[in-house]
Amino acid sequence: MIRLAALFLAGLALAVDSHASPAHSLTVSESFTDPIGFYDSTPTFSWKLPRRTAKQSAYRVEVTSDELLWDSGWVESDQSVLVPYEGEPLTSRQQVVWRVNFRDGAGQPAGWSEPATIEMGLLSSRDWAASWIRPAAEIDTAQERVAWLRKGFGVSKPVRRARLYVTARGVFQASLNGTQVGSEVLAPGWTSYSKRIDTLTYDVTNLLERGHNAIGVALGTGWYAGRLGWKHDKGLFGRFPEALVQLEIVYQDGSKQSVLSDNEWKATHDGPIRSASLYDGEHYDARKAMPGWDRAGFDDTRWDPVIAEMELGEARLAPKPFGTSVVTETVPTVSVAEPAPGHFVFDLGQNLVGWMALEMPGVAGEPIQVRCAEMLNPDGTIYTDNYRTAKSTNVYTPAETGVFRWKPTFTFHGFRYLELTGVPEGTTPDPSWVTGLVVHTRMPKIGSFRSSDELLNRLQANISWGQRGNFLDVPTDCPQRDERLGWTGDAQAFCSTALFNYDCHAFFKSWLGSMRDDQLADGQIPHVIPDVLRGKAGSPGWMDAATIVPWDVYVRTGDREILADNYAMMTALVDWYRARAKDGVVRQIGGFGDWLQPYSEDRRGETPKPLLGSAFFAKSLQILADSAAVLGKPEHAALQHEAEAVRRAFADHFFDGRGRLKGPNATQTGYVLALEFGLVPEPLRAAAAGELVRLIEDADGHLRTGFLGTPYLTRVLDNTGHTDTAFSLLFNPTYPSWFFSIHQGATTMWERWDSYTHADGFHPQSMNSFNHYAYGAVGSWMYERVAGLAVDPARPGYKHFYIRPAIGGPLTSAHADLETPYGRAASGWSLDGDTLTMQVEVPPNTTATVEFPTDRQREVLAAGRHEFVLTVGEPAR
Ligand code: BGC
Repeated sequence: MIRLAALFLAGLALAVDSHASPAHSLTVSESFTDPIGFYDSTPTFSWKLPRRTAKQSAYRVEVTSDELLWDSGWVESDQSVLVPYEGEPLTSRQQVVWRVNFRDGAGQPAGWSEPATIEMGLLSSRDWAASWIRPAAEIDTAQERVAWLRKGFGVSKPVRRARLYVTARGVFQASLNGTQVGSEVLAPGWTSYSKRIDTLTYDVTNLLERGHNAIGVALGTGWYAGRLGWKHDKGLFGRFPEALVQLEIVYQDGSKQSVLSDNEWKATHDGPIRSASLYDGEHYDARKAMPGWDRAGFDDTRWDPVIAEMELGEARLAPKPFGTSVVTETVPTVSVAEPAPGHFVFDLGQNLVGWMALEMPGVAGEPIQVRCAEMLNPDGTIYTDNYRTAKSTNVYTPAETGVFRWKPTFTFHGFRYLELTGVPEGTTPDPSWVTGLVVHTRMPKIGSFRSSDELLNRLQANISWGQRGNFLDVPTDCPQRDERLGWTGDAQAFCSTALFNYDCHAFFKSWLGSMRDDQLADGQIPHVIPDVLRGKAGSPGWMDAATIVPWDVYVRTGDREILADNYAMMTALVDWYRARAKDGVVRQIGGFGDWLQPYSEDRRGETPKPLLGSAFFAKSLQILADSAAVLGKPEHAALQHEAEAVRRAFADHFFDGRGRLKGPNATQTGYVLALEFGLVPEPLRAAAAGELVRLIEDADGHLRTGFLGTPYLTRVLDNTGHTDTAFSLLFNPTYPSWFFSIHQGATTMWERWDSYTHADGFHPQSMNSFNHYAYGAVGSWMYERVAGLAVDPARPGYKHFYIRPAIGGPLTSAHADLETPYGRAASGWSLDGDTLTMQVEVPPNTTATVEFPTDRQREVLAAGRHEFVLTVGEPAR
C-alpha cells in the first residue's frame, strides 16, 4: 500500500445538538413501515434521528390501540433501533398506533414524532373460518393447468373497512370486482408448505361496491405442486393447488360480514392459461379468455363445484414475514435480429429474471412462441443447453387479429434474449414489441458502490443483478435451469455482500425459519431450504448457513432476536459436528468440497474434506460461542473454551510448525479458511499467509479457489498485509478471475469463470448458469475496503463503524454509501495528483473511527459529514 502523509485536514463536523426536531422513519421489526397484516406480536421499534442530531440520550415509546398498550416511560438510553415492545402481545387484526420522543445529547426533548401504525394479520390457524378449496373436476396433473375460482356476494350497507386474508398451496392472484388485488406476483411464495404457509392481507375497502360483488382467485401449481428439481419431481408438497380466502367486511354501523372460501364457490380449469410451470413457461390461449369472470353477474352455471376442506392441516398459517415478489423494473429491448428465417431474437442487453411483456400484432388462432435464453450461439440463435430440461417457453394464441398485450402470470425465467417465432407474416418485428419485467422479492436498495474503474463498476452491477435474479422468495443458486433451489452454501457465501446492496434482513430471517423447519433430527442442515432433496445433507460450508447467515445479519442489523431464534438450530448443528469430531478434528465427512475450484479434476476441488469439515466446525462453534455471549447464555465460557481447543486441534492436525499445511493438498482455500477462521496460531499467521501468496504466484497470479475459499480470498490477503495481492487478483483480466468473465461479456455473475469464453465458446457441462451469485461474494470486500465502510461487530448495526479505505490497484477513486439502521453512512475517496480527499458521512446517533491510509493517527468521528484532504507523500500514480 502506498504511504500517504497527512499534510492538513479539514474536519467539517456538521452535526450539532441544537434544537432537535422529532424522530422520523419509524419502522417496526425488520424495517416494516406501517404494515398491514403484520406478523410479529411482540415487535421491535426503530426510528431515525434528524440529520443535525448527533446523539440520543433517552427515548420514550408510546403504543396505543383503543387504550394505552405500552408506555416505555423515559428510558436513559442511546438505543434507537430495535427497541423491544414490552406490552401485552398484539393480537390478530389489532390496530395499533405508536410514536416516539427522544432527548438529544444535551437532554433536550425533541417532541413526539408523527404517529406510525401497525395492523396485525391473522396470527394463527385458529383465526381462519375458511376452507381450502380446489376445483372438484379431476384433471391430468401432467399439465400444470391453472384453476379459476369465484364467488359472488352482496354488500348491503356502507363499508367502514374490508380486509382480504388469502393464501394458497400453490401460487395465486386474487381479484375483486375485476381489479387485481395487490401487485404481488407468485404469492404467497415458497416455504416448507407442510410446516408453514405464509398468508397475505390486503386492504380492499375501496374495491367493494354497494350491491353485487364478486371475488376471484386464479391458482397455479408453483413450487407447491409444480415441477421442482432436475429429477423431474412434481407435486412434492401436494398434487393439486388450493386456495384459502377470508374476506372480512366491517360495516359503518359496526356489523360484520365474512366471505369465506367454502363449498359455495365455483371453479374451472377451462380458462385461458392452459398450463403454467415455473420451469417450462406458460401457454395462454386468448380464445379461452373469460371476460368478467371476477365480476358480479358472470354466468358460472357451467363451472364446476369445488372441493372444500375445512381441516386446515398441520402447517402453521401466519402472516408473511417479509416482502412478496413484485415487478421492480422494466427493461426495453435494445436490438432485434433474425438469425434464422422466422426466428426473431430480441436482446434486452441485460441478463435478468422475471418475464416478458408483449405488445405486438397477432393473427387470430395463430400461436406465437416465445423462448428464453441467457446467451446466443455463435450463429446468433439462442443457446438453451444450460436450461437443461426447463423449457422456458411461452405460447400466446391471439383470439383476434390485431395488436395484443400479454405477460405471463405463474412462471419465471432467467434470460437476456427472447426468441419469437410465429410472428404474423408481413410484419417487421420492432424492439417495442418486447419488454423485460424484472421480478424479485421486494427489498429496498440500501447500498451503492462505485469507483473510477468502469470494469469494477460493471462487477458491482453484475453482483447486484445476480442478487436480484436470485432473491426470489428464497435465496436460490440460479434462476433459469431445472434447479432454482435454496442452496445453503451459495447463500452462506453471498449473505454478507447481499446485506450491503439490498435490505434483506427480513428475507433472510424468514428463510432461516424455513431452515429451522427443515433441520434434520440429528442436527444436519439439508443442502437446500426448503428441503426438496428430501433430507440430503452433510456438506461443510453448506450446512453452516445455519450459523453464518444469522451471525452476518446480526452484525449488520444489530438484531439479537435472529441469534435467539436460531440458537437451538446452531447448537444442534454444532452437536452434529461434535459427534463426528475426534479430538476436535472432523476426520470423515462428505459434501461438495470447495465446489468448482478451477483446474481441479473433480468439481469438488482439491482441498481435503476433513480440513473443510474441521474448519467449518470451528467456525460454527465460534459463532455459537459468540451468540451465547450476545445472548448472555451461561454456557458462553465453556463454548469459548471449546472453540479455542478446536482451533488448536486444527492447527496441530493440519499445520506443520512452520505455518505450512501438511500433506500434498495444500490449497489456496485451505490457507484462506484457516486464516479467516483464526485457525492458524498467531506466530504462524505471517508464514501461512506467505504460503498463500506463494500458491497464488505459482498459479501465475491467479486464484485457485472454489465456492468456499473465494468469498474470503481478498479479505484474508488484505488482513495479512498482502493488500497488493488482493488488488491484483481483483483486477486480474485473465482466467480465472472476476474481470475475465466480464471480458467474455458477463452482465451477471456466472457459475463458472469460463461459463463462456470468446476463444472456446460454452463450457461443455450443462451445469452452466449465467446467473449464480456465489462468486459475487467479493462485493463485501469492495464495500469494506476498496471504499472503506466496515461495520464494527462489537457495536452491531453500525452503531459504531470503521472508515478504512485501502488505496490500491489502478483506482483513483471509490465510494460507497449505505442506508444503515441509523441513516445514511458513506465513505469515499479520490486521488488527484498528490492530493487524497476523503469524504465521510456518519449517521445520527452513531460514531465512526476513521483509519487513514497514511501514517496519520486514527480519529473518532461524530455524526455528520466530514472531509479530509491529505497530501500523498510519495509520487502519485
Ligand atoms: C448448485 C450450486 C450448489 C451445488 C452444490 C449446484 O447444482 O447450482 O450452486 O451449491 O449444486 O454442489
